[in-house]
Amino acid sequence: MSNKTITIEILRYNPETDEKPGYGSFEIPYVEAWSMLDALEYIKDELDSSLSYRWSCRMAVCGSCGMVINGTPKLGCETFLRDFYPNAIKVEPLANFPIERDLVVDAEDFINKLESVKPYIINAMEKPVEEGVNKQTPEQLGLYKQFSMCINCMLCYSACPQMGLNPLFTGPAVIALGHRYNLDSRDEGYDQRTEVIQGKNGVWSCTFVGYCSEVCPKNVDPAAAINQNKLQGSQDWALSFLMPRKGAK
Ligand code: SF4
Ligand code: FES
Repeated sequence: MSNKTITIEILRYNPETDEKPGYGSFEIPYVEAWSMLDALEYIKDELDSSLSYRWSCRMAVCGSCGMVINGTPKLGCETFLRDFYPNAIKVEPLANFPIERDLVVDAEDFINKLESVKPYIINAMEKPVEEGVNKQTPEQLGLYKQFSMCINCMLCYSACPQMGLNPLFTGPAVIALGHRYNLDSRDEGYDQRTEVIQGKNGVWSCTFVGYCSEVCPKNVDPAAAINQNKLQGSQDWALSFLMPRKGAK
């Protein structure tokens, strides 16, 4: 291990014992190949076993290691010390979520919002097995593929200024996921999702800052999903004067 060191400042908070959050500072060995997750692991193993944070896959797949690093929402497993050395690095929990402990936030509200948009294929009529699988063309897949890459890391919620102003806002990832199923040729759940997506706290709460798409580690574009739904909502509204049924896909 090198003799170089780097300072990591971490927002610490245990709601059961602390009056308010405060920063803890740790000087650790600087290893060029270390991710922020490696650094946190070193601190937990060698310096302070009470440090709390989430992780699982270590490869930007599970979405559990979201945190705010020097002011930007990022995945700890794909953010490297070498991008900041020799400067100190400040690590905080995701913004716009209650802190459970240190870097661990309470995701219950996000999960409830996720459930509300019914993120699964809804078929009005189940096909008999004898009729075979539902096939899609590459063009049909291409319509929704980027929105299906979401790993529910919640970075976009931390980035969204509107979430801070209106915690009831459905939020970027949930709208993008609902949109993903609405665009799927096998799905018939558009009407069931409209209440959430076009409702009071749906797409119309968004002021289109677009930072959600900038921070997304999987190149999902939730801002585009929101915009496409605003357009669809306007078309539905116009069509409602001409036809009794909403224009879906
Ligand atoms: S849209 Fe991107 S930033 Fe938001 S939860 Fe999904 S993967 Fe994370
Ligand atoms: S540990 Fe799974 S995304 Fe970082």
